[in-house]
Amino acid sequence: MALAETAIGEASSVQALAEVRAGFLGKKGSVSAVLRTIGGLSGEERAAVGQAANQAKERIEAWAAARKRALESADRDREISEYKLDVTLPGHAPPRGHLHPTSQIEREMCAFFAELGYGIEDGPEVETDWNNFSGLNFPEDHPARDLQDTFFVPGGNVLRTHTSNVQIRAMTGRKPPFRFISPGRVYRHDLDGTHYPMFHQIEAVCVDEHVTFADLKGTLFAFARHLFGESTEMRFRAHFFPFTEPSAEIDISWGGRWLEWGGCGMIHPQVLLNCGIDPERYQGFAFGMGIDRTAMIRWDIPNIQLFFDGDVRTAEQF
Ligand code: PHE
Repeated sequence: MALAETAIGEASSVQALAEVRAGFLGKKGSVSAVLRTIGGLSGEERAAVGQAANQAKERIEAWAAARKRALESADRDREISEYKLDVTLPGHAPPRGHLHPTSQIEREMCAFFAELGYGIEDGPEVETDWNNFSGLNFPEDHPARDLQDTFFVPGGNVLRTHTSNVQIRAMTGRKPPFRFISPGRVYRHDLDGTHYPMFHQIEAVCVDEHVTFADLKGTLFAFARHLFGESTEMRFRAHFFPFTEPSAEIDISWGGRWLEWGGCGMIHPQVLLNCGIDPERYQGFAFGMGIDRTAMIRWDIPNIQLFFDGDVRTAEQF
């Protein structure tokens, strides 16, 4: 038995231990061999030898189990002590997003008007014909509706072609004076270097007694110079919109040429009437311009497609 105890104690791995154990208790092991001889012994001898062999078997079994636990726990300790984890090492930073230039300039535009006391109005991108066209004084079947290359939605609605729909929504049933802006997405059937079928506009509306074209001009000049710098040159070009009278297009001097920035005018009396506002007493101005276009002017970006390819490498440059 001392032999077995020593051999088990010296087994240096779980594998070696299994072999030592089998040397005693396996099919060909020495204890098994003793037990096999029992059949040929006399009754008394058989009881004595059987008992001794069984005792030996139990003790060897117990030593082997204890040694196995000790070996396994030593293995685990070694594994843990060899595993090096430094929780103070800096981790891998996940790539961060970046605010899109359109979002950046939109926030700047909103902040400018917030300082002038303008509220912010919201409008839906799927709009009724009334809010997008008829309420804004577009006659039925007037080519102006086609000029805007409208996307029609089944059921008679349209994808709004401009943010001017918010004029009707926000002015209807509202008592002047008020002023608000409304940024958002608009849709037109158009695609080239400077046009994309979905783009962003911002609308501004100011209604009060004694509002004049001079107020419109002053506001727009302050806005342009805030966005593009004090030396910005801007001009008004006479134009037609059904919902303003008089109307103008606004150009910004950009790289030695004039670039169209947006449209503006004094709100047409019929539009005020459509919203339940008395045009004899109140006047207002409105203007609207492309937000993406504004970012292109601001950062000299040649192609609007760059804005919509979703590549963060583009956004990260602004
Ligand atoms: N809605 C016009 C456009 O999209 C711009 C505009 C807004 C013109 C407000 C006049 C007044 O072209």
